[in-house]
Amino acid sequence: METNSKLQVMSLDSVISAYRRYAGIYDVLFGPIMHPGRKRIVDALSCRPGDNILEVGVGTGLSLPLYSHGVRVTGIDVSREMLDIARRRVVRELLPQVEAILEMDAQAMSFPDARFDKVVAMYVVSVVPDPKKLVAEMRRVCKPGGDIVIVNHFSSRNPVLGRMETLLAPCSRLAGFRPNLDMSEFLANTGLHVDEIRGTNLFGYWKILRCRNG
Ligand SMILES: C[S@@+](CC[C@H](N)C(=O)[O-])C[C@H]1O[C@@H](n2cnc3c(N)ncnc32)[C@H](O)[C@@H]1O
Repeated sequence: METNSKLQVMSLDSVISAYRRYAGIYDVLFGPIMHPGRKRIVDALSCRPGDNILEVGVGTGLSLPLYSHGVRVTGIDVSREMLDIARRRVVRELLPQVEAILEMDAQAMSFPDARFDKVVAMYVVSVVPDPKKLVAEMRRVCKPGGDIVIVNHFSSRNPVLGRMETLLAPCSRLAGFRPNLDMSEFLANTGLHVDEIRGTNLFGYWKILRCRNG
């Protein structure tokens, strides 16, 4: 598919080496600035006690303290260095809601079908080599009718910002994310049915997509 090949600009190895470099400074660079989106996602989940939640690309676990103690959260990521920080956070902040932190590729998960009530991806869609595979896997491991919630930056409709993002696109491998992912193309490729789209973080530059697993 033409659009899918256009989306595949990064390899898993380039992602892993980018986040090996970022891990030590990630919380300072991307902690507070992207935290409103994390909070809004967890609020949007309206978690009930006992809910089984998967967070793909959990990174350093900045979102983990936001989940209530009654739920069970599994976080996965491909970056060992990011996960080390997440694991230390779970111990330091005593987070009983965190059931497991696992090194796993979200594009090919080892979980059985329909294992989770809710599946979340925070700032990951632009980072994985193949967003279509990622969403297919998120849908597979989520129960039918369960929630899939994504927060991500998509290419801007502002002509100046959009042009800048296109100019930055060749740096995707080095930066570890794709600055110019088109939302319509992403939705068409993944077949996601979105119930609600809301802006978040700086001037709504990032979008929260709330979807029901159809
Ligand atoms: C921008 S960071 C977001 C981290 C975290 N969700 C947050 O809110 O700060 C993207 C994360 O996605 C992870 N990632 C990228 N590709 C992945 C994949 N195929 N499977 C699992 N994690 C992946 C990266 O290692 C990195 O930790």
